[in-house]
Amino acid sequence: MKVPLVDLAIQHRELEKELVKVFRAALRSGIFVDGAEVAAFEEEFAEFCGAKYSVGVSSGTDALRFALLASGIGPGDEVITVPFTFIATAEAISQVGARPVFVDVEEKSRTMDPQKLEEYLSKRKRDKRGGTVPKAIVPVHLYGHPADMDSIMDIAQRHGLLVIEDACQAHGALYLSRKVSPGWKRGEQREGGSRTEPSQEKEGSADGMWLPCGSMGLAAAFSFYPSKNLGACGEAGAVVTQDQDIAEKVRMLRDHGQTRKYRHEVEGYNGRLDAIQAGILRVKLKRLPHWNAKRRERAKRYNELLSGLEPLILPNEAPYALSVYHLYVIRTEQRDKMAEHLSRQKIGFGIHYPLPLHLQRAYRHLGYGKGDFPVSEKLASQVISLPLYPEMTDSDQEQVVEAVKEFLKLAGEA
Ligand SMILES: Cc1ncc(COP(=O)(O)O)c(C=O)c1O
Repeated sequence: MKVPLVDLAIQHRELEKELVKVFRAALRSGIFVDGAEVAAFEEEFAEFCGAKYSVGVSSGTDALRFALLASGIGPGDEVITVPFTFIATAEAISQVGARPVFVDVEEKSRTMDPQKLEEYLSKRKRDKRGGTVPKAIVPVHLYGHPADMDSIMDIAQRHGLLVIEDACQAHGALYLSRKVSPGWKRGEQREGGSRTEPSQEKEGSADGMWLPCGSMGLAAAFSFYPSKNLGACGEAGAVVTQDQDIAEKVRMLRDHGQTRKYRHEVEGYNGRLDAIQAGILRVKLKRLPHWNAKRRERAKRYNELLSGLEPLILPNEAPYALSVYHLYVIRTEQRDKMAEHLSRQKIGFGIHYPLPLHLQRAYRHLGYGKGDFPVSEKLASQVISLPLYPEMTDSDQEQVVEAVKEFLKLAGEA
């Protein structure tokens, strides 16, 4: 591969000494689960997210599942999310016994369309369908770009719904809030000093307050899957919340429902965070603001190098958003042919995601069909993720751009 989609080996080479130290310390202490490393990481990550609490768990999927359970979501409840996301978002909803309900995404931000959400809820009220009752909304900050949280929180408040953020792809992304969201009180933010500082980069900062993804809903789920902006060397995740009760419930749920050894308040899960992963995440968290800034620089450069190439639609950053570009995703109607060309040229790429959830066999029982969510369906047929990682060089990026341009030229001549 000339340029891979992501290259984790580079950062691990740079950090090898520190990472090996974490492993050695765990071998010597014999503490592999919970303990001081986990507690320290939780404190540091909560601070990074501008949240009061963070609870380490064993994956992003567990984080979503535990956040929903701790919020009291279960059988008989409807949880509204988007079909254009990774399946884990919907899996978590089903697996707590609730019913996933989809509303379409907005074409530019590729995140939940607040207008569609409002439409669904008003129609739903008139229909008064029996069975399940809407209880919560799970917006997804897809590709590192925040969903329009002010609008979503507003709708949630009016309809009496909870909001759990799927921030699995958005570590450090910021949202410019024109108002203070429920669950967030001005002045409560602890100064992490480590978040991306948007004021020099974005206009309009003075009109609102930049809030980190994960700090706005009742709770949020993060994934530390290795390829994420903050990735463990294995599986890991965290629930972040401003709410003490939610944090305590998640602590119980991840540890078999225990409040103390062999005293089980509820039936829980084995969903704890490993001490080695926590130590690794602490090493990497220090670099995350720098890595996110590098991703933003690379995305900006892609935008410059690919601008004006008519058939391509480049990612759009909403005025309210500071994306951390977990993925750099362009669109073209000739996506599959472009993918073949990139493969031949040994340029890595990804398709995130080729089939929206409402058309997946796994969700046939939900009764959706083709045409129900046209924006998600269009995006699924057109998106292609280009290589992006903080250590990417100018030359790597130029090779990717050359391959894309070459494809467009060939396709134009065909
Ligand atoms: C949007 C989204 N939600 C949830 C998850 C689940 O996270 P994990 O793979 O850590 O379980 C992921 C990760 O792949 C994701 O991208």
